[in-house]
Amino acid sequence: MTTAKACGKIILFGEHAVVYGKSGIAVPIKDLSTQVLVEPFCLLSVSYDRILEEDQKLKTENLIEFLLKKLKIKSNIKINISSTIPISSGLGSSASLCVALIRAFSNYFVLNLKIEKVNEIAFECEKIFHGTPSGIDNTVISYEKPVFFTKGNKEILNVKTPMNIIIANIGLRISTKEVVLGVRDRYNQNKEKYSKIFNEINQISINAKICIENGDIKKLGKLMILNQNLLREIEVSLSKLDLLCEVALANGAYGAKLAGAGKGGNMIILTSVENKDNLIKSIEPLVKWSYYTIIK
Ligand code: PMV
Repeated sequence: MTTAKACGKIILFGEHAVVYGKSGIAVPIKDLSTQVLVEPFCLLSVSYDRILEEDQKLKTENLIEFLLKKLKIKSNIKINISSTIPISSGLGSSASLCVALIRAFSNYFVLNLKIEKVNEIAFECEKIFHGTPSGIDNTVISYEKPVFFTKGNKEILNVKTPMNIIIANIGLRISTKEVVLGVRDRYNQNKEKYSKIFNEINQISINAKICIENGDIKKLGKLMILNQNLLREIEVSLSKLDLLCEVALANGAYGAKLAGAGKGGNMIILTSVENKDNLIKSIEPLVKWSYYTIIK
């Protein structure tokens, strides 16, 4: 019997722009994870620890089939999947599942896959879920380190001062694939406007990288606000997400923005340790759940 795990993630800067070859920053959320258990069995059997919708089961089964073929491994195994990562919420549930499965297969079948290979295969898997992913999710989850990501390229970031982050979920599930397609449509209709915005987001990510490496948390917060304004311009925010950002800022947050595809899902708040409880309380009436974590 073999088990393997993979963490969750959150995108701090650059979502959507990364799909167009610009830079973004993502960090692992290690308290959230997917766990895969593999053991010998007479045929292929897959079980889950939570109730999944039919299409989610189908996608997972397609993913497993793809991996069995890709890795040229036998299918006489029992696979159990458990996860603490909310689905379709921008916390990397699909990329985490891909990485956990690949790691579990690598261990069980003694394939000795290196991180680069795990990441490469996870990117192929992500395409099954999302169509045209940038690769930022599988990269941050494969390496389990904060990354400065530009299509096909990653730089591991040194976080000088720990970042206190509140992740707040508005209880609206989103399809990343659909939101990305919506942006693509609008981009095709107005390439000049969208290219300019993506370039501005790119510059924000570059500046954010410097802030993270220098421990300039206050400036980092300001960059989050700028990024959020641009995400609103490309129409991936929602009035509820905008309102949450306003409430957070009015209550002393350093910065706030949506995180991930948008149109639902999560927003993130950068806070001081001292102010975190006050902030969590202030947003409580507007969110389904919130979660405090420290990024190091
Ligand atoms: O919703 P999430 O957390 O899976 O993030 C999607 C991020 C996008 O930039 C919108 C898409 C991508 O593939 O990078």
